[in-house]
Amino acid sequence: SKGGFEHYMLKEIFEQPEALRNTMRGRLLFADGSAKLAGLDANRLELRNLNRIIITACGTSYYAGMVGEYLIEDLAGVPVEVEYASEFRYRNPIIKPGTLVFVISQSGETADTLAALREAQTKGATVLGICNAVGSTIARESNGGVYLHAGPEIGVASTKAFSSQVTVLAMVALLLGRERRVSAEQGIEFAHAIAKIPEQIEEILKLSDKIREIAKKYVNAHNFLYLGRHYNYPVAMEGALKLKEISYIHAEGYPAAEMKHGPIALIDENMPVVVIAPKDSLFDKVLSNVREIKARGGRIIAVTTEDCTELSDYADDVIYVPKVNSMLMPLITCVPLQLLAYHIAVLRGNDVDQPRNLAKSVTVE
Ligand code: M6R
Repeated sequence: SKGGFEHYMLKEIFEQPEALRNTMRGRLLFADGSAKLAGLDANRLELRNLNRIIITACGTSYYAGMVGEYLIEDLAGVPVEVEYASEFRYRNPIIKPGTLVFVISQSGETADTLAALREAQTKGATVLGICNAVGSTIARESNGGVYLHAGPEIGVASTKAFSSQVTVLAMVALLLGRERRVSAEQGIEFAHAIAKIPEQIEEILKLSDKIREIAKKYVNAHNFLYLGRHYNYPVAMEGALKLKEISYIHAEGYPAAEMKHGPIALIDENMPVVVIAPKDSLFDKVLSNVREIKARGGRIIAVTTEDCTELSDYADDVIYVPKVNSMLMPLITCVPLQLLAYHIAVLRGNDVDQPRNLAKSVTVE
């Protein structure tokens, strides 16, 4: 049931604090500053000896994987590549001893992701699954893995699965990091930061009505750009995917600085730009991208942290979110973008739970 919500998608957006608490339950080791993921215990030796990680997935799960790449490289110092499962399966990827493969799939039934899993196993890799659906094909065929425990996701647009996948990847990165270059002190701080995310998401959910008001201004837009840097680049990609799949408005995500290599030519008063710009070490860089957009008449919706004072001069609308560790910022910034896509799609009269041409699990290639 939709539990009083108009759509499953909205219910699932609002369920995120609870879903993430379930994802973390019993898995964060606060005293050691590490994580315990029982489904990886049998693979401890492989985790210890790996020298390269490949993450493969489709759609939203792929974007979660992109966040995972940054997390694992930052915390564990292990090289990570992220690849679309549909590419990985057909292009003869290089897999050597020490290469560990993660497949990410909410449904556990995505045809391309399953084929990538089998291809990796054929080449001798251990494959670990990050799945939500218990007992799904990908979960069963993986050599180990981590369940999201996010609860069933019914809306075709993935929301709580994304935040839950990123949460799992943060715990995987912490675990791998503690075995390598993360100190106990850093690990403890990070574990506590993860644990705090659900209550911080609760704060953002209170902004839903305000975001609906912003959405009203953009119901008739034909295009949207989403920009973010560093940890928020995958969130820009995810935000754009969310908008296009349920509102049918064309949207593109970009690393903010890539704008000047082409997309800036698109900017005019008919091109709304969503800029994810938390106050972090790269803030000034994003601010200069914002100025460039403003100078060309673009309309700006900015997502930033509560301590930011600069953006209100440039942005048409500013959505303020709690400030967290930069590595965990995607868990925060994804939420207003989910709400923005949801409200725009509902205002356009679309069936947000069952968007046209799409199925919840893509079991054919
Ligand atoms: O079940 P999976 O995570 O394997 O699904 C992958 C994609 O099909 C899925 O994330 C899709 O992109 C969503 N509809 C996006 O909201």
